[in-house]
Amino acid sequence: MVKLNVLKWPDKILRTRCLAVSVFDESLEQLARDMIETMRAEGGIGLSANQVGDLRRVAVIEVPRLLGDLSDSYHDIPIVLVNPILLEAESDTMSREGCLSLPEVIDVVKRFDKITVRYQNLSGEQKEIKASGLMAACLQHEIDHLNGKTLVEKASRIKRDMIMRRLKKKGKL
Ligand code: CO
Repeated sequence: MVKLNVLKWPDKILRTRCLAVSVFDESLEQLARDMIETMRAEGGIGLSANQVGDLRRVAVIEVPRLLGDLSDSYHDIPIVLVNPILLEAESDTMSREGCLSLPEVIDVVKRFDKITVRYQNLSGEQKEIKASGLMAACLQHEIDHLNGKTLVEKASRIKRDMIMRRLKKKGKL
């Protein structure tokens, strides 16, 4: 079992935009496998490649059925998303989120409640996933990561100052 090191904010790689994947090879499969194991070991429901220091546009998510919206059919299975993009989005919601790269922070952020994401699987085939609620928030959180944005970059200035103060107080900055 491989557990990768999860980078903590303010590591620069977390603020770096990941690059589109064009090579679907064994190394990509290995990365996805290691990311799933790491996400599970850390108790997370999503993880992006730059969180483990790899700049390929890959994210994994696994939302437990008990936490999610029961109408979604993708719970309890790990999903690997390569080059994911937000295709459609409707209705705003507020989402309470944590992040494995920001263990001290829980923040409420604005998200779309219903989304469609287009992505490629590990074989390079194009797929779409429709999601709502927690699953939708999780997908948007990971796509933000791939664009170099964590909860800190997403927060308003006032909230960001609060987060910075909290991290400083705990000696994390
Ligand atoms: Co995160």
